[in-house]
Amino acid sequence: MIDYSKELAALKRSGRYRERRLFDEKVIDLASNDYLGLAHNKDLLNEACARLASSTSHAPKASMLVNGYHPIHASFEKALCRANGFEAGVILGSGFNANIAMIEALVRKADELFMDEKYHASGVLATKLLDAKVSYFKHNDAEELQKMLESSPAKRKIIAVEGIYSMDADLVSREIISLADDYGALLILDEAHSSGVIGEHLTGILDFYGLSVKENYIKMGTLGKAYGSFGAYILASAHIIDYLVNRAKPIIYATAPSLFDTVLGEVSLEYIQKNLLSFKKQIASRQKIVESILGLKSEGLIVPIRVKDNRTAIQIQAELLQEGYLVGAIRQPTVDAPIIRLIARLGADEKALSDVCYLIKSKIR
Ligand SMILES: Cc1ncc(COP(=O)(O)O)c(C=O)c1O
Repeated sequence: MIDYSKELAALKRSGRYRERRLFDEKVIDLASNDYLGLAHNKDLLNEACARLASSTSHAPKASMLVNGYHPIHASFEKALCRANGFEAGVILGSGFNANIAMIEALVRKADELFMDEKYHASGVLATKLLDAKVSYFKHNDAEELQKMLESSPAKRKIIAVEGIYSMDADLVSREIISLADDYGALLILDEAHSSGVIGEHLTGILDFYGLSVKENYIKMGTLGKAYGSFGAYILASAHIIDYLVNRAKPIIYATAPSLFDTVLGEVSLEYIQKNLLSFKKQIASRQKIVESILGLKSEGLIVPIRVKDNRTAIQIQAELLQEGYLVGAIRQPTVDAPIIRLIARLGADEKALSDVCYLIKSKIR
């Protein structure tokens, strides 16, 4: 019999064994990526159901390139373009798929891809499919990236970064965005954790830095985080989207994204736009609580708290769970050093956030 027990035993020995768990619904969620609490908003659910019910079909049925492209997809793509200032867009089944789609299709044989060493696993996996040169630069190090760009003979240079890094919680530096402009490089921005969370209009990193969209920018955002749904989108120039629709395999050879998730994404976008000021106020207030208790300043809603080792991370998580709070315990190899990943999400009230911050403070001393 084919057997993986040795591999599983090794994972257990090194404290890297993972399990899916079902948590008590009553536990206060300070671990998920549902930043704005929209995943629990029944008004949004009901509105999405009503819109979908008025459509003749409720499932996409085929690839977007057969007849799976639906007015629900087209409408949301248009709304996302308007909200983010991009020319064109395409919806995908997930952010993981979107990274595979963009990177595999955009980086051609004679090109060079410059990827932040902390880019998401889906992007790193996509590089394994490439026939082109891939260079990783030190996390958020614009100086090192510039040297690499300067010495690269590749005609087409492509930089891949995240708006907010999912584990370190820092923002991509503004200089890296400028380097893309200076060197005529394509800039892939993975905004999984920044769209819906930062910027004047809560649309992400370009909005945060007050930068207008340029032809060489490509933005990927996910619906499974601040938007309280599931799926993803890529926004870019019409030319790039046209190319992706023609070459990106997860777009061509997959059933079009779920209509329910897409319509829910559009309902969420409208809701965020309508409640912009209130959301921004609530985000700022949670950032203040975290800073005043833990001394950690965060631009978004991810708060990584360093702990001694993998076992300590698990132990703190278990102790907090006993008190009724769920936080993330992120261990190696996902991160270099283990962290408690606290999400100061709006779905949990400020009192809960402040209580859990004090508890964590007492445990890491
Ligand atoms: C930075 C980043 N990019 C992409 C993804 C994948 O997105 P999705 O969960 O929609 O597949 C994630 C998910 O955790 C992420 O953190």
